[in-house]
Amino acid sequence: MNATIQPEKIKHYPVLLKEIISIITPQYGGTFIDCTFGQGGYSKKILSYPKSKIIALDRDKESIILSKEIKKKFKERFFFENIKFSEINKINLPKENIKSIIFDLGYSYSQIKDSSKGISFDSLGELNMKMGLNSFSAKDVIHKLDHKDLDKIFKLFGDEKDSKRIANKIVRFRKNKIINTQDLVKIIDSSKRKKNFKINNATKTFQALRIFVNKEVSELIYGLINAVKILKPGGKIVVVTFHSLEDKIVKFFFRNLSENKSISRYMPKLSSKKKILKMMNKKPIVPSLEEIKKNPPSRSAKLRFAIKDEDDQNFEEEILKKFDYLLETENLSKKI
Ligand SMILES: C[S@@+](CC[C@H](N)C(=O)[O-])C[C@H]1O[C@@H](n2cnc3c(N)ncnc32)[C@H](O)[C@@H]1O
Repeated sequence: MNATIQPEKIKHYPVLLKEIISIITPQYGGTFIDCTFGQGGYSKKILSYPKSKIIALDRDKESIILSKEIKKKFKERFFFENIKFSEINKINLPKENIKSIIFDLGYSYSQIKDSSKGISFDSLGELNMKMGLNSFSAKDVIHKLDHKDLDKIFKLFGDEKDSKRIANKIVRFRKNKIINTQDLVKIIDSSKRKKNFKINNATKTFQALRIFVNKEVSELIYGLINAVKILKPGGKIVVVTFHSLEDKIVKFFFRNLSENKSISRYMPKLSSKKKILKMMNKKPIVPSLEEIKKNPPSRSAKLRFAIKDEDDQNFEEEILKKFDYLLETENLSKKI
């Protein structure tokens, strides 16, 4: 089943929308970059304020359809590019300053429900997981990397305790058969030592594969770095994350750039380090019980935001060093 999705027809709730609007204040006008256009939930709301402009990005080519509909309505106030947000520094920026850059990470409802993308473990058929503008699929990962590399990916990107057993079983199974989504779910089920009653056994391995296939770690790290570089002092950066690895990266990134001192005990204290961001909330903003009731997947969302303080174009060294082990793991894709 390879249904072409009609984004507008699928029920979608933009997560933490009220909270985002109160942070970015589009009612006073300004240009905003929506790095994760998806089903246009944030963009449409921001455009409902007549003095606002949007530059929207999304890597999924399905989002081009909806972007064209919105463009018809808001010719002068809406611009869309089908690119990855790590390349945000390559877009044509307007003369006026960007007021806020927003990231709503993860997958849209339509992507999860699109069985041809094979994002969820209840999808049918071939392993895919490509969000858009990818160079390899989950099927390539499962069939071309050795057990050590698979083990590392499942452990680091999925925090999967039985990563080794799953990796070994995949390598044995693939000798006789191309592994599809249902095969992988069965392999994981039979490899787990303890059954998890809270989440599906396949959740963590599937998360790891999606992160690896879409290079989500480098996308996020370089997306944040380049977003901060194009913001002028006073501009805001707002990020909604959905799992602990994403939140760990965002939290470190914001803290590191908002403190004069190094936050790692392994790094020397840099007294001359500029304060590039002002962090506005130490604790993340989370959805209300009312929002979670209406839209249960929002329960894992965490919103963090910061304001650009001082300008500096060379601040990323400590950040790249901190997440070197993840970026290195992502580079295993060179073997595919
Ligand atoms: C959770 S959805 C966004 C939903 C959106 N805020 C809304 O209300 O409709 C995430 C979207 O970000 C896109 N995306 C994820 N990673 C991306 C990246 N690195 N570059 C560009 N788009 C990305 C996905 O394709 C997906 O459409």
